[in-house]
Amino acid sequence: MKIAVLASGKGTNLQAIIDEWFEEALPVEFVGVGSDKVSAYALKRAEAAHIPTRVFPKENYANRQEQEEDILAWFEMLGVELLLLAGYMRVLSPEFIRRADFPIINIHPSLLPSFPGLNAQKQAVEYGAKVSGCTVHFVDEGMDTGPVIMQEAVQVFEEDSEEELAARILKVEHKIYPQVVRLMALEKITRKGRKVYIQRDS
Ligand code: GRF
Repeated sequence: MKIAVLASGKGTNLQAIIDEWFEEALPVEFVGVGSDKVSAYALKRAEAAHIPTRVFPKENYANRQEQEEDILAWFEMLGVELLLLAGYMRVLSPEFIRRADFPIINIHPSLLPSFPGLNAQKQAVEYGAKVSGCTVHFVDEGMDTGPVIMQEAVQVFEEDSEEELAARILKVEHKIYPQVVRLMALEKITRKGRKVYIQRDS
């Protein structure tokens, strides 16, 4: 399965997936890592793994539509079959999502539908939640509203700072995102409306 990744930041999730790929645990081919940020460390990680990279800086385009046209054309050329968002900080337009003929998956640092949008870990701490976690989901036209593929909970401690909770959640992100990529590549995930079914080996 040909996969591409969009990332804007540190790229630790990307790294977790690359690491599993290096261990030959993922039957995938990384065809490209794109970013809207020239300085994204995720690009360095991709280069170190010899994955083609491209940057689509916001300031090079008149509007989001033009930027997305470029991204889609690149993906088309690469023959992308699955797109992973890994800390990509631009919201993809409904048009992008409609035109993409491949599934798009995202990881979010809360148990959706709780705490969607930005600063999910801060939201959980400030709300006083006792449990939070992370969610891998299909991307639809809403903000963090697509069908849930996998979730894992982590405890929130009373004295937690946003950073402490984020670090605890990130560890779990690095575990479940590669798992989902593997299941997708093995075609063990099916989606019927909002429900996602995972075929487990018995
Ligand atoms: C993660 O917390 C992810 O859940 C969110 O953005 C962050 C990306 O971190 N969507 P990294 O760039 O993978 O380190």
